[in-house]
Amino acid sequence: MYLILLGPPGVGKGTQAQFLIDDLGAVQLSTGDVLRAAIANGTELGKQAKQYMDAGDLVPDEVILGMIHNKLVELEGKAVIFDGFPRTEAQAQGLDVELEKLGKSVDKALELTIDDQVVVDRLSARRVHAGSGRVYNLLFNPPKKEGVDDVTGEPLMHRDDDKEDVIRHRLEVYHKATEPVAGFYEKQGKLVKVDGDGTVDGVRQRVKDALKGLG
Ligand code: AP5
Ligand code: MG
Repeated sequence: MYLILLGPPGVGKGTQAQFLIDDLGAVQLSTGDVLRAAIANGTELGKQAKQYMDAGDLVPDEVILGMIHNKLVELEGKAVIFDGFPRTEAQAQGLDVELEKLGKSVDKALELTIDDQVVVDRLSARRVHAGSGRVYNLLFNPPKKEGVDDVTGEPLMHRDDDKEDVIRHRLEVYHKATEPVAGFYEKQGKLVKVDGDGTVDGVRQRVKDALKGLG
């Protein structure tokens, strides 16, 4: 099973993916998380990606598709939730080609929608646990103990690209380059849209309803 989570920065892709891991028995593949880990580890991939991520721009398609190729081989046989990928039509086409080689295809694409201003408010207060991808929010979804992950007790971090000017640029990039990807899956009859505003649990229920029968 291959599920794609689409939607703007801060809409809740990472938050909902954490629930779907359990609900669908799948693994999460967040290209953003993979790239941040590569930067932290000082790898060649990290060096290629850093300048783009810091500015809120997209990392070039060929870098992303190379990384996805390796990950798909590594994760063969597992159900996968793609979070933050594909982000351009070229990436969506590239994914179809890679999956075809494995005799597979995308099952569904779920687009979470939200107003830009809600995103700015949410991301300014986000904190993340780098090791697991668990996501918190100082205003809406705080950790049990300030500054540390609920499960491991390790420190939480503030992402470098969660500054207001960079957040606004990421939104611009999203509207221009990534929004058309929803149309790509709509044409294939695979797109479902879910309102990403409201409480975390409210969105979770809507996502569950929209994905009934998948898994
Ligand atoms: P990436 O890491 O994918 O970031 P993003 O798409 O900008 O999305 P976010 O992770 O910011 O938001 P999210 O939707 O996961 O929201 P979350 O659940 O955390 O990409 C970062 C960068 O990497 C890109 O800019 C680019 O440079 C590069 N990159 C990555 N993939 C790429 C690709 N395929 N191609 C090219 N470049 C790529 O929630 C946000 C906050 O809101 C949290 O604090 C959360 O607790 C809170 N929250 C969640 N839901 C709710 C709710 N219902 N109510 C209140 N608060 C909520
Ligand atoms: Mg995310």
